[in-house]
Formats: sequence, structure tokens, C-alpha cells
Amino acid sequence: MGASVLIGVFDSGIGGLSVLKALRADMPHEDFIYIADSGHAPYGERDVAHVLARSRAVVQYLVSQNVKALVIACNTATAAAIHLLRAEHPGLALIGVEPALKPAVALSRTGRIGVMATRGTLASDKFQALLAAQAANTQFVLQPCDGLAHAIEASADTGDATRTIALCAHYVSAMGRFGTETGEIDTLVLGCTHYPFASEHLRALVGPGVQFIDNGQAVARQTRRLLPDALMAANAPPGQVSLFATSQARTLQAAAQRWLDLSVPVSLLSF
Ligand code: DGL
Repeated sequence: MGASVLIGVFDSGIGGLSVLKALRADMPHEDFIYIADSGHAPYGERDVAHVLARSRAVVQYLVSQNVKALVIACNTATAAAIHLLRAEHPGLALIGVEPALKPAVALSRTGRIGVMATRGTLASDKFQALLAAQAANTQFVLQPCDGLAHAIEASADTGDATRTIALCAHYVSAMGRFGTETGEIDTLVLGCTHYPFASEHLRALVGPGVQFIDNGQAVARQTRRLLPDALMAANAPPGQVSLFATSQARTLQAAAQRWLDLSVPVSLLSF
């Protein structure tokens, strides 16, 4: 029986919990340390220099905690920083998340795919390259969703999703018709890790036939592939999760309880 591996996970806030959920389901015996950089959020509406500086600081902290793998559970930070972080930490297994365009192309029958993401992600070179690599006969409807990640954070804390629902309605109607008929969007990529936590509201707006895709499970599988087998725990007790935030500890604690059924105290970090 190996000792468990410590895996670092971070996001600008609670969104990365959607990735942590998939990681824990895939690797229940490993230990996780999660950081919500809420004191410096949102990332998606800030410039690249800010996102890069924050990603560097968070990664530095996680490396100092001796993590064996590190998951950037944020599309915006992955787009802005992963190439530089890989160069700066060559020995570290570093996994990022990006909008699941390729799986969406494979699933879509109408060839019309909606992509909801932050404006930072959609404007990034990384995303533009990903988009350019997709089949020319697929149409992507790109929707930057200012304010939505922030609204989801607020709803985790208060339980009041009014603002989240209003923003979802606004962005869904801006994207056009959803459905399974020709010319309709039949596949919706949730290209920000916060958005799976709004999926019930999105579902109510677009109807039952539209497929939602996020990359949480793919990221979990890839993380497991990158970990040396010898390091991983087998038949061990359930792994532990430590939660940290750079502000708004209560929001992270409420979100972990609400969406992951995880009762863990949150410690504040200042850096
Ligand atoms: N959760 C982050 C992402 O996946 C973005 C949220 C934010 O704007 O800070 O892009």
C-alpha cells in the first residue's frame, strides 16, 4: 500500500471545486490541497499580467507544500499561464483545463456549438489556436459571460441564485436558438469551471435535449495518468482535503458543503 499523493488544485475561487469533485471521484485515496484565490478574483475579467502573477504565486505556494501534481482548475489561468509555469517548474506534473471543444464536435449533430467562458479565456491565443484546430464545418457561438462566475460565488454563500439565473438567461438568449433541429445549438461547452454549478439553471433555459460538456472528468483521468503508480495509494482510507482561500473563506466552505458534501474548515492564506 503506497502512501497517498498530495495533489494541489487551484482556481480564482470556488469554480475549481467542480474539477476537485471529478478528481476525488477518480482518485478517492489521494490527498488534495485546494486554493481559492478569491482575494484576487475574478481572473476572467482581468488582464493577463494579473492572472499570470497570481498563478505564479499560488503555484509557488503549492510547490512549497510539496505537491506531487498540480491541477490548474481554471480555464482562464490555464490559457494565460500554463506554458510559462511548465517552463518554470519542469519537474512538476502540471495539468490544466481548457474548453472541451473537441468532445463537443464529436457529440454535436447540428454542428452548432455554444461556448460559454470568461472573456479572458475566449481572447487568449491558446483558445484561438484550439478553435482554429476544429473542423471548418462546425459553427461555434462564443459567449463571454462577464459577472457569471462572481454571481455563482455569491449564490454559494447566500443560497440566493437570482443573479445567476438572470445572467444565465441573458447569455443564453444572446447565443440564439437551442435545440436539436438544424440551425440550433445542440451542445453547450461550459468553458469556465464555475459554470457546472449553474447547470440546473442553464438546463431550465435550454431544455432537455441540449448536451452540456465540461472537462472535469478528462482532467481527472489525465492527472491520474501523470502520477507514477508507485506513488499512488491503493486500498487506503479515503484521502483528505485541505481547503484554503485568499479571502472569503466562508464562501469556499459553503460551496464545498453545498456541492461536494464536504465539511472541512477553510484556512485563510495571505500572499
Ligand atoms: N473559474 C475560472 C475559469 O475556469 C474563471 C472565473 C473567474 O473569472 O475568475 O475560467
